Amino acid sequence: MFDKLQAQPADKILALMKAFREDPRTDKIDLGVGVYKNAEGVTPVMRAVKAAEYRLWQEQDSKAYVGLVGDPAFSDAMIALILGDAVPRANVGAAATPGGTGAVRQAFELIRMANPQARVFVSDPTWPNHLSILKYLGIETVAYRYFDSETRGVDFAGMIEDLGKAKAGDVVLLHGCCHNPTGANLNNVEWQAVIDLMNERALIPMIDIAYQGFGDGLDADAIATRMVASNVPECLIAASCSKNFGIYRERTGLLMAVSQDASQRGLNQDTLAFLNRQNYSFPPDHGARLVTMILNDDALRADWATELEQVRLSMLGLRQALADELQRLSGSDRFAFIAQHRGMFSRLGTSPEMVEKLRANYGIYMVGDSRMNIAGLNATTVPILAKAIIDAGI
Ligand code: LMR
Repeated sequence: MFDKLQAQPADKILALMKAFREDPRTDKIDLGVGVYKNAEGVTPVMRAVKAAEYRLWQEQDSKAYVGLVGDPAFSDAMIALILGDAVPRANVGAAATPGGTGAVRQAFELIRMANPQARVFVSDPTWPNHLSILKYLGIETVAYRYFDSETRGVDFAGMIEDLGKAKAGDVVLLHGCCHNPTGANLNNVEWQAVIDLMNERALIPMIDIAYQGFGDGLDADAIATRMVASNVPECLIAASCSKNFGIYRERTGLLMAVSQDASQRGLNQDTLAFLNRQNYSFPPDHGARLVTMILNDDALRADWATELEQVRLSMLGLRQALADELQRLSGSDRFAFIAQHRGMFSRLGTSPEMVEKLRANYGIYMVGDSRMNIAGLNATTVPILAKAIIDAGI
């Protein structure tokens, strides 16, 4: 049996992590995988997470199973964090999942179950694992224009034109904030136009929101998701706690199925429970419990929000510093987009050959499509990166 297996393509982001680890150069710079690092290059456990873990260790008296969709208190807290009061709680079916990827995977499975003919429209580019999972599940994908390689902003006209070709029942995958990999985002007027188009054409939105709090702030980053959820008949929302709670390895996420028709909720919720049971039975609890404790405790929540805001501001500061240094070295504003992008990533907008040159000659690691993890920088490495970009001829 095993001899029939075929080697699968390596995930580009994970392959880059490995290459970086194996590079003996001591001055190498990792701008690859989307993990926050502080100025010392450390991915810290957030203070509120540590405090919640300590409390959990003291209080938890059982590790028995919780429930197929996880603890309802986790769903309640996360729905409030993401959706605020945009839709009544009674309209939202939800299930805890292993990380945001688990939520994305379950959402795609639900789409295939409900409508095997549905195609999923994906931004060009999108997170590579979206495409990989969709292909694995045999779901047809259609790319819509998104990144304008001239302005490094959103090619909004192209996006609208391409989404205009979708048929009723097709799904549109959108990044709720902090677009991965480009860092380029729609403004609220553009979001409304996309919502109107989806409603006119009876398209189903699916939102992947993995970086709430990393862009313009916790509430600001949720605005688009709230606009969508309150203005369409139904949508799917896949959320991750990996980044904004810094609990990557705990695999903590939530999938929401939102319907304006509250009588639909029971079936949605049962379907999410069924899908969990088929794939891994009970979702992981540890990270979800920490998140619930933090969100439901005023002091822990305030401390978490403060630390998250510091993370956000530090990334904004690094963006501005890099854009300023590039402006100084190049004597032009052509890198100003780096300060305008939001979230953990910016797409530099250069060729794979240039990305390879940066790796080979300067020990700078970014994803082949020139996605940089801004959090991989610090005050020392910003000028080094800027100089390498200019010296390499980008
Ligand atoms: C990323 O895009 O780098 C992160 O979401 C990590 C991953 O799993 O790819």
